[in-house]
Amino acid sequence: MKAIICKKYGPPENLEIVECNAPEPKDDEVLIKIYAASVTNSDIFIRSSKVPLSLFIPFRLMMGITKPRNEILGEVFSGITEKVGTEIKRFKVGDQVFGLTGMYLGAYADYKCMKEKDSKKGGLAIKPNNISFEEATSAAYGGLLALQFLEKGNIQRNQKVLIYGASSTTGTIAVQFAKHLGAEVTGVCSAKHIDFVKSLGADNVIDYTKPNSINELEIYDVILDAVGKAKSSDLKKACKKSLTKNGKYLSIDDEALLLDSNRLSRIKELVEQNVIKPINDKCYSFDQIIEAHKYVELGHKKGNVAITVNSLN
Ligand SMILES: NC(=O)c1ccc[n+]([C@@H]2O[C@H](COP(=O)([O-])OP(=O)(O)OC[C@H]3O[C@@H](n4cnc5c(N)ncnc54)[C@H](OP(=O)(O)O)[C@@H]3O)[C@@H](O)[C@H]2O)c1
Repeated sequence: MKAIICKKYGPPENLEIVECNAPEPKDDEVLIKIYAASVTNSDIFIRSSKVPLSLFIPFRLMMGITKPRNEILGEVFSGITEKVGTEIKRFKVGDQVFGLTGMYLGAYADYKCMKEKDSKKGGLAIKPNNISFEEATSAAYGGLLALQFLEKGNIQRNQKVLIYGASSTTGTIAVQFAKHLGAEVTGVCSAKHIDFVKSLGADNVIDYTKPNSINELEIYDVILDAVGKAKSSDLKKACKKSLTKNGKYLSIDDEALLLDSNRLSRIKELVEQNVIKPINDKCYSFDQIIEAHKYVELGHKKGNVAITVNSLN
């Protein structure tokens, strides 16, 4: 099978397409033919190994000393099950699925074996039937993060919710989900994304790059930082003081992403009911992986970026 490996931590050029043996599923595994994979900030983080000095040793011990222990990168995928082990109950051959591999990676390849039970090795569910494989990677990644953190917000109808980083993979889904729950939603993004964030349903949009944008802040019941601790602005710092007495400030980096197949199945339903429309900024071909990594590394993608690994025809 073809796969994209990271030969050594460093720039996108360290990624290489190679031929290697396809994995064989064990009794408790399914073999998935991958049709699309996401290129996320986490992939960039792992490939580049650009971590704060204090995390350098723990990161290398966990992920691998000079290159990722699993050199095939990619954490988010969608595809079709091609073989199922004898103990598999939830899936049959030919199911269209989507999911995440956790830190075991391996989605940038023709094939990947997954367990059907949730674990640190991933979560897997039936893919929404009304979107492409590429869109399904956006739904899996942004959807899991958005729902995990917004559920902690316990949003009630007519509450004011602010989504910081509303144009990100998670932000685009968080805006739509918060609207679905009946909130009045304010999205924060840069000027070029204002119309886009409004089109997702946001009632108000604040441009974090505009001088004095802090004056546009109101008082919110729930604030979700959907871009993580590495991305900030004066507006983001000011947000933390713009909460009601019992308001909740949630950051996407507060806790590890849960690889939860029940939540994935809930996302499937929300997508099929047209409550959530997963957004892809760009889709690259498999051999454009270096360009895809360079684009995501710029830090301004609109929603998700996917690579097409295989095509149905
Ligand atoms: N908890 C976990 O286990 C877990 C797992 C995975 C990821 N994460 C976190 O999720 C983050 C997001 O990853 P991603 O792949 O989805 O990338 P992303 O958030 O889609 O990044 C791109 C977006 O960030 C926005 N942005 C960039 N700088 C900003 C700033 N200073 N203020 C507001 N918005 C800004 C850009 O909008 P503009 O172009 O409009 O600026 C763009 O839409 C990661 O960096 C990581 O911190 C956490």
